[in-house]
Amino acid sequence: MQAMELFGEAMYDYHKWNLIWEMEIVMEDWTRYIDWVKWYFRDYKDFDSIEKTLFNNISWKSLLDIWCATWYYFPEIEKRVENFEWIDISKKAILVAQERWYKNVKVADIMNYKTNKKYDILTLVWNNLSIWWTIEWTHKLIEILKWLLNNNWKMLCIFRKIEEEYFISKIRLEYKSIISEPFYWIRIRIDLLENILNEHWLKLKILDENDYWYCLEIKKI
Ligand SMILES: C[S@@+](CC[C@H](N)C(=O)[O-])C[C@H]1O[C@@H](n2cnc3c(N)ncnc32)[C@H](O)[C@@H]1O
Repeated sequence: MQAMELFGEAMYDYHKWNLIWEMEIVMEDWTRYIDWVKWYFRDYKDFDSIEKTLFNNISWKSLLDIWCATWYYFPEIEKRVENFEWIDISKKAILVAQERWYKNVKVADIMNYKTNKKYDILTLVWNNLSIWWTIEWTHKLIEILKWLLNNNWKMLCIFRKIEEEYFISKIRLEYKSIISEPFYWIRIRIDLLENILNEHWLKLKILDENDYWYCLEIKKI
């Protein structure tokens, strides 16, 4: 099974039947970490301060949220934005978002996302600009995002701090004894990200940070 579909199954079971069977992240050497399902059902009061910074930088314009999952942060976006849409590749995660919020929701892969629309704000929450496996794919993603963005507007994202220039993890998910196909997650250091963005005529600003994460604003130069 594809990892993101298994992720969606776990979200749906919790949403529909309050069933908590924790999902595990399984690394290439078979070390495991629990990915708490409840995390994806939090309220604003439980948000980290960098998440609050991200939402407090959203203003009354059009927004596309990419890889939204359950969209637990929907109430914060609804308060701040007039027109909003969201996409996620996982059908079950989208079903949770639809059943909880019934709004403009689409199952879509951002790497093949076709639209003529442009947005003032793109949000990428907890995703690092990076569920891919090469720097070339990061370039490709950035070009797609830039195409979706109105001039003079911004992307907001939460981005992991790392010390190496970049590293790639091969990851599987396990849920209810099913182990998913692997996916690859590239993390890149912020100075490398800055160089990549500059090649696409984009610039970044750090809005907030803690020991592990940045909240970034990315704009056209
Ligand atoms: C770590 S979750 C982050 C979800 C949410 N933004 C949050 O803050 O909790 C990653 C999400 O990215 C989605 N995803 C992964 N690859 C995607 C792609 N190519 N296009 C759209 N969504 C994708 C997954 O289905 C999953 O819901």
